Amino acid sequence: MRVLVLGGAGFLGSHTLVALAEAGHAPVALDNLVNASARAVERAAGLGGRAIPLVVADVRDAAALERALREHRAEAVIHFAALKAVARSVREPLEYFDNNVGGTVAVLRAMQQAGVERLVFSSSATVYGVPARVPIAEDAPRGAVNPYGHTKHACELLIEDACAAGGRLAALLLRYFNPVGAHPSGRLGEDPRGTPDNLMPFVSQVAVGRRPWLPVFGADWPTPDGTCVRDYLHVMDLAEAHVAALGALEGGGGRAPALNLGTGRGHSVREVVAEFERAAGRPIPTRVEGRRAGDVAVLYADCGRAAQVLGWRARRDLRAMCADAWRFQRENPSGYAAG
Ligand code: NAD
Ligand code: WQD
Repeated sequence: MRVLVLGGAGFLGSHTLVALAEAGHAPVALDNLVNASARAVERAAGLGGRAIPLVVADVRDAAALERALREHRAEAVIHFAALKAVARSVREPLEYFDNNVGGTVAVLRAMQQAGVERLVFSSSATVYGVPARVPIAEDAPRGAVNPYGHTKHACELLIEDACAAGGRLAALLLRYFNPVGAHPSGRLGEDPRGTPDNLMPFVSQVAVGRRPWLPVFGADWPTPDGTCVRDYLHVMDLAEAHVAALGALEGGGGRAPALNLGTGRGHSVREVVAEFERAAGRPIPTRVEGRRAGDVAVLYADCGRAAQVLGWRARRDLRAMCADAWRFQRENPSGYAAG
């Protein structure tokens, strides 16, 4: 299938380019490079063994999107393009709604104009907010607690309504839990700009000596070791789920089911640090700080529906996630900046 991958130069998009190419699909990346490097697409092409064009454009530009869809004769769209920093979204809600929701309106318009009927959308476990119980299944109520999460909820509603409108649009809303790790080659990985917001890239940067210690946001949570528990998912498992999602979309119109993507297992902050220390063969200094606003003690996914609908299950464990994240960090200590 010819697939336009929006946000294809980003962390999750670039790894998905590799999985698509390896599965025999023909991906084209589109990205405005606001949070990514074109080098990631070049490296993905090298790993995937085929040329992957990069269209530099903004998803809010529906005309540019329509041109790209027609020029590359796209049969499906995977829409990763969004801003994702929770704390920044609290300070800049307009920017987040404009980019994430405005972008998704333009994507749906352009697809309609170009007659493209298959969409895979990057949603997030953040739409659940504070869940009543774990594991969280897809029928749990949505109740995001920050502007970033509200934009994902709004996009889900928008896509559901667009699918229900009677056309042939078929979509899958993939709710990722905590994607981490890197391609096992060490060529592709997560390269956040500025101070990392998320745990694993922060740990990696401490391990490589770019930061002196990891702040641990609370050690007094009601969990076995007092630190928060999350469902970490290897980025290559996530990439493979997108390949499966394209297959699941074939033929089905008018629907937009949501699927959790995780492992169904939780790991604490301390467990992640210990596993990373093993992978890197060096200690990772930590300092316990106060709890971070908006955190909850334990989150992990019920992944039964993804197994049923996609025939997909995560295969890689925390050891592989840390080993691969470390290989990328060690071989690219300044990320993609150094080429
Ligand atoms: P990322 O920032 O690495 O990738 C997003 C990409 O989209 C970047 O390359 C960025 O340059 C591009 N982009 C942003 N706005 C754009 C616009 N208006 N036009 C064109 N390109 C634009 O983030 P990621 O971790 O790869 O996340 C991908 C998607 O998955 C996002 O939608 C994010 O909300 C979602 N998600 C991520 C996580 C996570 O922990 N990484 C978890 C759940 C959901
Ligand atoms: C994991 C755990 C922190 C950093 C976020 C978004 C969510 C989704 C995935 C996009 C938590 C602790 C972290 C640090 C720490 N993204 N931590 N020190 O918060 O589960 O989810 O990313 O959709 O929407 O909210 O992930 O990696 O930020 O944190 O102790 O320096 O690590 O408190 O318990 P989170 P995270």
